[in-house]
Amino acid sequence: MSAPRKILTVFGTRPEAIKLFPLVHALEADPRFDSRVCVSAQHRAMLDQVLAIAEIVPDHDLDLMTPGQTLDALTARALVEIGKVLDAEQPDWVVVQGDTTTVMAGAIAAYYRKIPVCHVEAGLRSGDIHHPWPEEVNRRVVGTFAALHCAPTETARDALLRENVDPATVHVTGNTVIDALHWVSEKVTREPHLAQGLAELEHRFAGKRIIGMTSHRRENFGEGMQNIANAVRQIASRDDVAVIFPVHLNPNVRQVMNAELAGLDNVALIEPLDYPHFARLLDIAHLMLTDSGGVQEEAPALGKPVLVMRETTERPEGVAAGTAKLVGTDADTIVRETFRLLDDEQAYAAMARAHNPFGDGHSAQRICDLLAG
Ligand code: UD1
Ligand code: UDP
Repeated sequence: MSAPRKILTVFGTRPEAIKLFPLVHALEADPRFDSRVCVSAQHRAMLDQVLAIAEIVPDHDLDLMTPGQTLDALTARALVEIGKVLDAEQPDWVVVQGDTTTVMAGAIAAYYRKIPVCHVEAGLRSGDIHHPWPEEVNRRVVGTFAALHCAPTETARDALLRENVDPATVHVTGNTVIDALHWVSEKVTREPHLAQGLAELEHRFAGKRIIGMTSHRRENFGEGMQNIANAVRQIASRDDVAVIFPVHLNPNVRQVMNAELAGLDNVALIEPLDYPHFARLLDIAHLMLTDSGGVQEEAPALGKPVLVMRETTERPEGVAAGTAKLVGTDADTIVRETFRLLDDEQAYAAMARAHNPFGDGHSAQRICDLLAG
């Protein structure tokens, strides 16, 4: 038998960790591979929440996060530090997922060493380099040289082919976020205590419809965030709803949300939830209000209507399926669309249907097989 292939999986933020832990688990269990993990720790606490639940102990932890980090300083440090790990490990493949600074820097570091890159969740395109910013360009950069493009959907594959990517390197694998959701829901079924931390809020808000909320997009900082906060304030003035809002640790988000929403009766501003508790929030939510990428994929899978506070999306599948709707960052529009879902049963029913355009829960295994091939 030939020597196992050495795969170095590199990630740095919460969403990458969530979408890569199923693949790391699969690689670790597969004798065809020698699996290594490098975290940039572009996020710290929010990354550690995922590492803990998924029981992943990185081989390399670069501990890069600094409070209020800038894009250029983070990029520079990630490029240099990930490069050192690549020199030490000399893997056969580097695996990255998605569109963050860690992804772009990690992939470039591999390219500089002529190590082939496997890009998970390849081919998402909004067509607008400023939305999402800077993620649209991060994805495009990795797409120009990845040796293996794992497109979650046909739409993503078609986008890559339009950019003249070699079709032999593009594979539709589904999105590993669905693997992650299945894994966490099975884990919580076995160990229910892992998701019981919301019980007090559930009791406090009994009888109200829960709106699950997240917001953190960099392009919304400033006016967009202010508008979103204003919208939440108006929505929460109704006594038949409650908003549960785990606030992202980015200070640009926290300052605005704490200033505008702290102390409101029907709004719970809480710390970022670990994945079992966020899955619980998705479960109890009547609808989701978000600008997150991952939540746009999870909510449709669970049949939860999701109003997307963005002008455009690189994930059009949820919109096409009818479970997601783009509402932008204008406060009046957000409030109007939220009230419509709360007051118009037909409009709600039309959106509240489980659709799973993003995967079948077996994406990680498909990616393993491609890496072995
Ligand atoms: C990053 C990604 C974004 C992704 C998001 C997921 C880039 C450019 N942005 O945005 O694509 O959608 O993560 O959440 O790669 N912080 C903490 N603790 C944490 C995490 C963040 O304190 O665990 C604070 C720090 O002050 C940090 C700041 O948030 O400097 C910003 O973190 P950063 O990763 O640069 O940007 P995000 O807005 O989190
Ligand atoms: N999430 C979580 N706890 C929270 C908020 C979100 O575990 O308090 C999960 C969510 O289920 C999704 C992912 O984090 O899988 C999305 O991450 P985020 O919104 O930070 O980034 P994006 O997906 O927009 O890049």
